[in-house]
Amino acid sequence: MIFGKKDHLVGLDIGSSFIKVAELKISGNKYALHKFGMTRIAPGTIVEGRVIDMETLANDIRALFKSQKIREKNVAISTGGHSVVIKTINTSTRPDKELHTTIYSEAEQYIPYDIDDVNIDFQVLGESDFSPDQMSVLLVAVKKDLVAEYIDLIHLAGLNPKIIDVDTFALQNAYEILPYENREKITLLVDVGASKTSLNIIKANSSLMMRDTVSGTNQFLEEIASQFEITLDEAEQAVNGEVNDIISQDRLEEISLKIAQAWCSEICEVVNTYQSSANDEKVEKIVLSGGGVFIKGFKDCLLSELEADVSIINPFEALIVNEKKFPDSFITKAGPLAPIAIGLALRRVDDK
Ligand SMILES: Nc1ncnc2c1ncn2[C@@H]1O[C@H](COP(=O)(O)OP(=O)(O)OP(=O)(O)O)[C@@H](O)[C@H]1O
Ligand SMILES: [Mg+2]
Repeated sequence: MIFGKKDHLVGLDIGSSFIKVAELKISGNKYALHKFGMTRIAPGTIVEGRVIDMETLANDIRALFKSQKIREKNVAISTGGHSVVIKTINTSTRPDKELHTTIYSEAEQYIPYDIDDVNIDFQVLGESDFSPDQMSVLLVAVKKDLVAEYIDLIHLAGLNPKIIDVDTFALQNAYEILPYENREKITLLVDVGASKTSLNIIKANSSLMMRDTVSGTNQFLEEIASQFEITLDEAEQAVNGEVNDIISQDRLEEISLKIAQAWCSEICEVVNTYQSSANDEKVEKIVLSGGGVFIKGFKDCLLSELEADVSIINPFEALIVNEKKFPDSFITKAGPLAPIAIGLALRRVDDK
């Protein structure tokens, strides 16, 4: 048994271009990386966070578990995109037992879906900044049909979905175990995936502001495909250096910089919005994750436009890693893609 009590979960991050899986074990007072693997999925299998090709995806998940020799069946997964709504709301302070009813009755105005179509969860963040009679509450609503879809998928893959988290929270979870400095610094976590970007400004392990956008590395491939009149597959091969004769490195770099600049502007806008709403309290640190970190010029653009430290996450730094099993070259490549799976693998069966 991996943990003293058998309550650990395998973290499964089902992205729209890569599925990642992570399993941890406790070693002394630290976590050790037990299993980690990734596999690419075919374009169109997941679109806007919805599972389009259930059978293929379930087979991909099965194959990934098999190739990594993962026997544990209990998994934690996460969702994101349009069907997940996260808002910080203010409501009048009241006793815990009344809170549930109040939040449910107030939630409707904040959620763009019929209230009967969503699962709602909330967390009290503390006294509101605006009034001592009010409290600030983090409201999370996830469409029930989305949850049902992912539960069906996991069952079809022969696994048990024990926790369904939200991508952004799983990333924050992985970030918070890193042996990093000052938690009081206002930090922006940015995950640029293939089809979406999530932004989360945190301080002292609490979220201050969240935003989702549709930016992602697919834009980069689409831009290349359109400019050179080639397919997306060919564009990807060109980016990965598998074929060198389609596009020159100079042109690739030019397109990268253009995309990086667009992402950077979007992020600056969110940072500025936050800073002006928070009496000019500055975002001091930016931590990047997701495949977007590989786009040339992205990190440098942020460094030049914002007065903040910018770094790329390496969630393996928080873990004991056996170099024979996971060589440095693998860790460097996988690090930015791994945090959500690791954040999920940190969850326990009985977690809320
Ligand atoms: N070494 C690399 N060089 C260039 N691009 C890369 C590299 N590794 C990954 N990518 C890009 O990053 C993408 C995968 O990023 P990521 O795993 O964060 O996306 P995802 O989680 O599947 O997507 P989403 O979260 O948007 O659903 C790939 O589709 C590819 O375009
Ligand atoms: Mg992702």
